[in-house]
Amino acid sequence: MTTVKIVGAGSIGNHLSHACRQQGWAVTLCDRDPEALRRTREDIYPQRYGSWDDGIRLADPAAVVADPFDVVIVGTPPDSHVPIALAQLEAAAPRVLFIEKPLCPPDLDGCEDLQRSAREKGTFVGVGFNHTLTRNTALATDWLRDHPIGEIVTLRSMTREHWGGIFGAHPWLAGPGDSYLGFTARGGGAIGEHCHAINIWQHFALCLGLGRVREVSAMLDWVEEGGVRYDRIAQLSVRTETGLVGTIVQDVVTEPARKWLRVQGSDGFLEWEVNADAGHDAIRTKASRVGDVEETLIAKTRPDDFLGEIHHIGSLLEGNASIRGKDSPVSLERGLDTMLVVAAAIRSSEEGRSVTIDHARGPSLDALRSGL
Ligand SMILES: NC(=O)c1ccc[n+]([C@@H]2O[C@H](COP(=O)([O-])OP(=O)(O)OC[C@H]3O[C@@H](n4cnc5c(N)ncnc54)[C@H](O)[C@@H]3O)[C@@H](O)[C@H]2O)c1
Repeated sequence: MTTVKIVGAGSIGNHLSHACRQQGWAVTLCDRDPEALRRTREDIYPQRYGSWDDGIRLADPAAVVADPFDVVIVGTPPDSHVPIALAQLEAAAPRVLFIEKPLCPPDLDGCEDLQRSAREKGTFVGVGFNHTLTRNTALATDWLRDHPIGEIVTLRSMTREHWGGIFGAHPWLAGPGDSYLGFTARGGGAIGEHCHAINIWQHFALCLGLGRVREVSAMLDWVEEGGVRYDRIAQLSVRTETGLVGTIVQDVVTEPARKWLRVQGSDGFLEWEVNADAGHDAIRTKASRVGDVEETLIAKTRPDDFLGEIHHIGSLLEGNASIRGKDSPVSLERGLDTMLVVAAAIRSSEEGRSVTIDHARGPSLDALRSGL
């Protein structure tokens, strides 16, 4: 039986424990805070999924750090991701190590070590950009493959979501200052917390053969009060290696939320949307200049958001070579590319000029070059 250890019994730790249990996997869920384990067993899991699952083993992380597992998932705050991942690879390298988004804070500290250690240990390291593996994304990329819509003129994406929903799921937090969320430098703020928009933009650009992001020009709206420092709005203009120009917007102020992307071709377009209504994702398409817009609604629940990711891990364990390495939409390389855009956007906003990413330099701030 597949064995999984999930580090961090918070919101995502519960989602992913449930998704792994749906596959019949043996789950060990650990947290350094005993109160988080109690809350999981008595509150979060039963409230979300109906009842506690006795098949989930709750543990202190120190007690299981060297135990062998097929899969380890890191679902702790972003500033602990890379240190926990490096320690895990050293203590007992699993076959698959999955790290939640954002991979790390925008200083990218430890990312080169992580890449090296993953290579040395032969572990597949992935980053939890689950939207790349949901049904609406598969339908959208299949449609784009089958329907030429002329020259791809631009790509736009947004994850605009008031973070009241996050605090609703974390009633023990009084506000952004109580966690990493109120600190962009720790991986929070709109640019860190909602970096799904950057990642899905990159995913579609790669699927369309339009290359990686090379240039970023960004404006961030900063909040500094009561000890917090975070961006509540991040607006990015980006250009890829092939010259495609597009926009990405992330914020923690929009209500109701909008999680949306549009591929604009010279002859048609595709729109992709998460939570188009309470029970559906959607894609909207127009294959040519004439004709109607077609909408496809994809019924889904919140647990479905994570099933594609867990199936993907299952395929990796089965040795599916075609999705290993860089070909996986949740590869470490993809997660690092997203972090480089996050870091470039912050620098661009602070310096008031565009920033170029030199991908040959590897995943560190040395890859960023400020423009004139
Ligand atoms: N993909 C998604 O849709 C999605 C959804 C929610 C959260 N996330 C991501 O998951 C991560 C965690 O978010 P969350 O909302 O679950 O946070 P959370 O605060 O609810 O839970 C984090 C837990 O990690 C524990 N923890 C912290 N440091 C630890 C350590 N060193 N060892 C063991 N446990 C430790 C904390 O005690 C806490 O219980 C973030 O990076 C977030 O962006 C992703």
